[in-house]
Amino acid sequence: MCGIIGYIGNRNAIPVLINGLKRLEYRGYDSAGIAFFNGNKINVRRCAGKIKDLEVSIKGEKLRSFTGLGHTRWATHGKPSEENAHPHRSGGIVLVHNGIIENYFELKEELKGKGHVFTSETDTEVICHLIHSYSRKGLDFEAATRAALKHVEGAYAIGIINESEPDKILAVKKDSPLVLGLGEGEFFIASDIPAFLKYTKDVIILDNGEMASITRKGVSVSGIANKKPVKKEIANITWSPTMAEKGGYKHFMLKEINEQPRAIADTIRGRFSLEKGEVNLDEFSLAESELKKLNKIFLVACGTSWHAALVGKYIIEDMARVPCEVDIASEFRYRRPLLPKGSLVIVITQSGETADTLAAQRESGKLGAKVLSICNVVGSTSAREADGVFFTHSGPEIGVASTKAFTTQLTGLYLFAIALAKAKEKIRSDDIRELFNELLQLPEKVEQSLKINDAVLKIAKRFYHARDFLYLGRGINYPIALEGALKLKEISYIHAEGYPAGEMKHGPIALIDNNMPVLALAPDDKVLEKILSNMEEVKSRGGKVIAVATEGNTRVLSRASNVLFMPKTNYYLTPIIFSIPLHLLAYHMAVLKKCNVDQPRNLAKSVTVE
Ligand code: M6R
Repeated sequence: MCGIIGYIGNRNAIPVLINGLKRLEYRGYDSAGIAFFNGNKINVRRCAGKIKDLEVSIKGEKLRSFTGLGHTRWATHGKPSEENAHPHRSGGIVLVHNGIIENYFELKEELKGKGHVFTSETDTEVICHLIHSYSRKGLDFEAATRAALKHVEGAYAIGIINESEPDKILAVKKDSPLVLGLGEGEFFIASDIPAFLKYTKDVIILDNGEMASITRKGVSVSGIANKKPVKKEIANITWSPTMAEKGGYKHFMLKEINEQPRAIADTIRGRFSLEKGEVNLDEFSLAESELKKLNKIFLVACGTSWHAALVGKYIIEDMARVPCEVDIASEFRYRRPLLPKGSLVIVITQSGETADTLAAQRESGKLGAKVLSICNVVGSTSAREADGVFFTHSGPEIGVASTKAFTTQLTGLYLFAIALAKAKEKIRSDDIRELFNELLQLPEKVEQSLKINDAVLKIAKRFYHARDFLYLGRGINYPIALEGALKLKEISYIHAEGYPAGEMKHGPIALIDNNMPVLALAPDDKVLEKILSNMEEVKSRGGKVIAVATEGNTRVLSRASNVLFMPKTNYYLTPIIFSIPLHLLAYHMAVLKKCNVDQPRNLAKSVTVE
């Protein structure tokens, strides 16, 4: 996720772009840049670091332009550096991009073969070269852009300027957000409304497959492929600037919970081929021959990422039949772990900067193991130091409570398990296809799951005065009980414990009374009968049961005072679907208790000390 801004009008574009970028910094902050006209030439200024570093780098210069583009980057392809920062250029074509170009590698090779010289490691640069190559063939700006985009697969929101048509910005969109701001004789493009909210509240939201051609006189929108004019509605925004940064949500946590369908779609994009029945683990640098030889896997992480690791163990051992040990990173390094030959260590970390996880990662390397990282932040220490990385691509997570990072980690582990099971010949091609098909439906099912929000809010209203909470789960959903309890503790300060439901009778059952709400995870799986009995045990002791169950399961109704029904999915993906109501419940309880949801007391987003 990156932020883009563009301006054309009568004011000096430079401060407009810098101000816009500051409002978009939440979308990415590892490098930034602007492009603007200097006479008929386009100048590009970029730097690694934050917007304020870019601002410092141009301070004192008398830059003036009436058209320009800006970008704040959240690296996906290529490390955060000046060369990889946007805008990118080929000849007189300069552009900024948010999204991922899936087939960039093939396109880059083809263009290199034709003599194009690349100066960055990004996927974006291929788009400039493609447009430039069509311009050189004599096509005008718009025609060259349309022709170039025919080759491009993936997601994009792009702003483009061209030295041969200085009074124009082109903006194109597919699967990444792009809005236009309409002022008096001035126009804006941006990834998000706050970037220009200071100047105008009139906006047009571009839809997939649309191109906007913007001059100082106005905006015209057409289909990228069919060139047909599209009549767009102008919306008037009533949000305050802070609300707008959160996309209209009250908190980043709620925004991030709601972003999960998109985040998961980005995690799986380009990661497998349904036709070939293969997972693409290129970035993980794991050949099938290597997977074949693996005889032990260690999953190491902290906090919510550790819960993902626990789910990973269930998936990997069940699907690929390879033994898997899970460690809390701060324990791993001091317990003198034994890593037999042929072991693989996978660290899981959203930030890639958690001190304990990094220490465990380094310790594993010293012990001679190959170390891979499932990580969200490109350019982070874990990503740089690992032998291979699976980037979850969930976009920046700002809320301290991890939500979308967790479900995308689970998605990554699911893909890894399929690749391993295939290499180990523990799975048939038909089953692989079924697993892929279920994965393809996941973003839609997550979207459906989010509709549970109002029902969760009702439950939160009933229980937010509780002092303690018990979360019960079994099997693959036992870690989800831990995750639900952690979320409740960290943002609502209610004491909560996650427990394997079968263990309840060995101790925690003593706590159950009228004041102890018990949340039970009861998906339709092989341990459903068992969890139903555990719910009976709670009910008969006066406990109040909130059940989360698969839709259509009427048997939970008599055993619970409240039931949340979730869409059906396969066994391995239920932890993703079932964590959604738990994250929402923690969120609503915290809001009702008037807690600081995005910055809970005593907690930091990334724990960089031991
Ligand atoms: O960035 P990481 O995934 O390494 O962070 C690990 C934990 O600090 C993190 O998951 C923490 O538990 C969150 N606050 C949970 O919501």
